[in-house]
Amino acid sequence: MKKSGGRKILFATPECAPWVKTGGLGDVAAALPEALCRLGHDVRLLMPAYPWVKVQARGARRAGTIPAYNGLPGCTLLQTRMPNGVPIWLIDCPEMYERHGGAYLDTNGVDFADNHLRFGLLSRVAAILASDGSPLSWRPQVLHCHDWTTGLAPAYLKFWQQPVPSVMTIHNLAFQGLFDMSTADVLDVPPAARGVDGVEFWGRLSFLKAGLFYADCITTVSPTYAAEIQREPLGFGLQGLLSGRQAQLQGILNGIDTTVWDSSVDPLIAEHYGLDTLSAKSGNRRALRAKLGLAQDADAMLIGMVTRLTGQKGIDLVLEAMERLLTLPVQLVVLGSGDRAFEEAFRALAVRMPQRVATVIGFDESLAHLIEAGADAFLMPSRFEPCGLNQMYSQRYGTPPIVHATGGLADSVVDETDGENASGFVFNQPTAVALLDAVDRAVATYRRPERWVRLQRNGMMRDFSWTASAAQYAALYERVIEG
Ligand code: ADP
Ligand code: GLC
Repeated sequence: MKKSGGRKILFATPECAPWVKTGGLGDVAAALPEALCRLGHDVRLLMPAYPWVKVQARGARRAGTIPAYNGLPGCTLLQTRMPNGVPIWLIDCPEMYERHGGAYLDTNGVDFADNHLRFGLLSRVAAILASDGSPLSWRPQVLHCHDWTTGLAPAYLKFWQQPVPSVMTIHNLAFQGLFDMSTADVLDVPPAARGVDGVEFWGRLSFLKAGLFYADCITTVSPTYAAEIQREPLGFGLQGLLSGRQAQLQGILNGIDTTVWDSSVDPLIAEHYGLDTLSAKSGNRRALRAKLGLAQDADAMLIGMVTRLTGQKGIDLVLEAMERLLTLPVQLVVLGSGDRAFEEAFRALAVRMPQRVATVIGFDESLAHLIEAGADAFLMPSRFEPCGLNQMYSQRYGTPPIVHATGGLADSVVDETDGENASGFVFNQPTAVALLDAVDRAVATYRRPERWVRLQRNGMMRDFSWTASAAQYAALYERVIEG
């Protein structure tokens, strides 16, 4: 399958679906390398060997070792392939990764106290594999890092004067990996790099800033977010650095895995359907309502949400709008987890109105698919959204999204009033009033089936596959390789 001219790219990531996924980064780290491989590139992944990953990767072979250094323990590299065929090295270091909890948080939902070491090790191993000191014979031509957990890797390459270029992709600027500057010793950050022209951010050591400062090129996951992070408030204090590096900053819209998200074959939904069999979609609505105990109410528009329940996702706006929202002929199904107060508020609503509101707290891939297929409309009122994947899944599933015009939501949804290609409802201000107005418009449109079907069909026909985005990354790799 590999064509000549393919480049060798190492992806360093803290998560990769289906083995590790806390959000969209897990999806991207799986699907983008696969799409690049299809274009003829040789892409390989590097990720920590969390205990549940080691169970999945039982046949992995030992490919090399990296000795302990300074305050970071030694580790073994295990080599295997992800289910999609992309090769991966897992960093086996029981001292760092084999514990109860998730990738970042302990069982109480609190950050592991030594995350600077856990992800300092990930960053350091990534840089080693891209440098002269690598124990492997395979050497990448570009090191591609994702989010703060890999942010020190571009810095190490520069500290060690290694020529391999690095790309730093921002999936979410709100998570920066900030630690006390005293960690610089154990992380082996030289004194000269501990100031503002280096890893320092308001007196602390910032993994993400390190990546943004030292990487040869920066990308983020939508063109609108690339513009938004160059100013307040979405620059989260890094707007100066980012606007200063504007020439090396590019927004590339994520794609989605259109084989996993295909309503004509999706094994996780109740009834298959497509452009020519749209009416079969209603079987999924019936199944979803039945599963969650909602009334089979022919008049109500069923609104779905699948989301982290956090401030970023505009959950407070939904709660603020709730009483008035429920004066409209709508039902709501919410699947998510996050802030305890939000979880409780949605639980209480479902207890109060079990026929109209269903709340499922947790992470449930199957239910997420059934919601995308069974809901009539999909609500995503994020205050900010670097890209967002659910609004693309929902368009592909004929479930028009209702979104706030920010980041990737603005780049992937066309408002109902915006001409021939309209595929959803977009509101401009992150307020409960604007959200209600958009839901109101959706309800009115839902009452006019020919207009609703036009939105559904437009969304289903959009090309959200990775092909175009992967080609943009490939072009970027060429530019950084050529210097
Ligand atoms: P973010 O990464 O900021 O959470 P994205 O929209 O990029 O947002 O990606 C979220 C991904 O995680 C999507 O694939 C979505 O379906 C999935 N997801 C989020 N919450 C849940 C949940 N509670 N159960 C199942 N899938 C979820
Ligand atoms: C982050 C962002 C989300 C984006 C995802 C994948 O989690 O919050 O908007 O889609 O990364 O890039």
